[in-house]
Amino acid sequence: MKIVHSPQQMSEACRRLLRRGIDIGLVPTMGALHQGHLSLIDAARRENKAVVVSIFVNPAQFSPKEDFKSYPRPLKKDLLLCRKSKVDVVFLPAAAGMYPRGFSTYVEVEKLGRLLCGKSRPVHFRGVTTIVAKLFNLIRPTSAYFGQKDAQQAIIIKKMAEDLNFPLRIRVLPTVREKNGLAISSRNKYLNKKERKDALVLSLALKLAKALIGRGVRDTKKIISAMRRMIISKKSAKIDYISIVDTDNLFPVKRISGNCLIALAVSIGKTRLIDNIVITKRG
Ligand code: PAJ
Repeated sequence: MKIVHSPQQMSEACRRLLRRGIDIGLVPTMGALHQGHLSLIDAARRENKAVVVSIFVNPAQFSPKEDFKSYPRPLKKDLLLCRKSKVDVVFLPAAAGMYPRGFSTYVEVEKLGRLLCGKSRPVHFRGVTTIVAKLFNLIRPTSAYFGQKDAQQAIIIKKMAEDLNFPLRIRVLPTVREKNGLAISSRNKYLNKKERKDALVLSLALKLAKALIGRGVRDTKKIISAMRRMIISKKSAKIDYISIVDTDNLFPVKRISGNCLIALAVSIGKTRLIDNIVITKRG
């Protein structure tokens, strides 16, 4: 397994692979790798001759009040996991390599980036699309792998790739959960024992929504208020949003008819968590 720090060397190494007809699967991450990341790496491994994993805690997607400094960086363990998962190249740039002095060009997907998480995290998606566009340009992957866990992020990246004609396939893979339903996240590390229990309320509220829809409830207001009641029963929980939206444009849906995304962001203590499910017409 190669570890590359320099963007230029990364770009050259990938050009060499592509010239030899080797397709590249890219898994962009911020490290603190867990089963969710590993499911993306496994898919990339199955579907490509070469797998590149980028590990970069991207400062541009954190607002000054967020957890950029305290974000976990267990590099040794991450590299071990990459090696075990048969990753070919780990791209590990320094912040100054990706954002040299005077950096001033950003990629922003309008509208979609302002909804849901974008309301409380106004610079977040601009930071995500900028770094992902840079990774796509440097690495030129054949396919890039993202998790449904960050549904809005995946939708926005798809839109960016389409709008800017990035010649690659975006693959979105299912959310990996703990047995108890909790969506696995690097930020779960911040939760204490009691908060970890309380955090189950996110996936339980999504289960409740699915059950209500299964029983024929179509009015999204009713579904959202039932979810709200369940979540606020936990003292440590503070709701940022609960939304039922169209899976393409993220606009709120009043009555459930076609496919929709049920997404929520809830702080448990000081830790902001997100989760979602997609409801399809066929159920
Ligand atoms: P990070 O949070 O490290 O996540 C990297 C990828 O892993 C994302 O595509 C995310 O959706 C996916 N992922 C996280 N938890 C998952 C889970 N439980 N199941 C399945 N997939 C999961 O998302 C980012 O980093 C950054 O914004 C990034 C795209 C790397 C840009 O900086």
